Amino acid sequence: MEKTFLMVKPDGVQRNLIGEITGRFERKGFKLAGAKLMSISEELAQEHYGEHKEKPFFGELVEFITSGPVFAMVWEGEDVIAAARQMMGATKPSDAAPGTIRGDFGMIVGKNVIHGSDSKESAEREISLFFNEGELVDYQKDS
Ligand code: CMP
Repeated sequence: MEKTFLMVKPDGVQRNLIGEITGRFERKGFKLAGAKLMSISEELAQEHYGEHKEKPFFGELVEFITSGPVFAMVWEGEDVIAAARQMMGATKPSDAAPGTIRGDFGMIVGKNVIHGSDSKESAEREISLFFNEGELVDYQKDS
């Protein structure tokens, strides 16, 4: 089953949106395969956002994502990568449609509440950066 990596960013955790956000994915029918509340080190932030290294906002991005706890998650289900991107809405909250997470709760692009993998390759990379095999449940095996 397809898996994706999602993360409630420090602004979302601070605003008590973990329940709201996880509830949306649960109600949609996706399965939570792993989750943890954690602080991101400078090294992990640099690695996670490596593709943005040359962007002018890279320093700001790393500073923000390490500024407070995040809620890292792995969700699974059919086409979960694309579906989660739709449910999150556009990166820039002012472009995000009402009904999406960023459309409903986001204000500015740097603090846009949630991160989600944008492809199969990034999902695999991000899941293995944040989780060990033993931290993920296997619903197929357990059922
Ligand atoms: P995310 O999906 O976590 O992936 C990269 C992040 O860069 C993105 O969400 C935004 O939060 C952030 N970002 C994109 N553009 C800008 C910008 N112009 N200024 C600050 N942050 C940005």
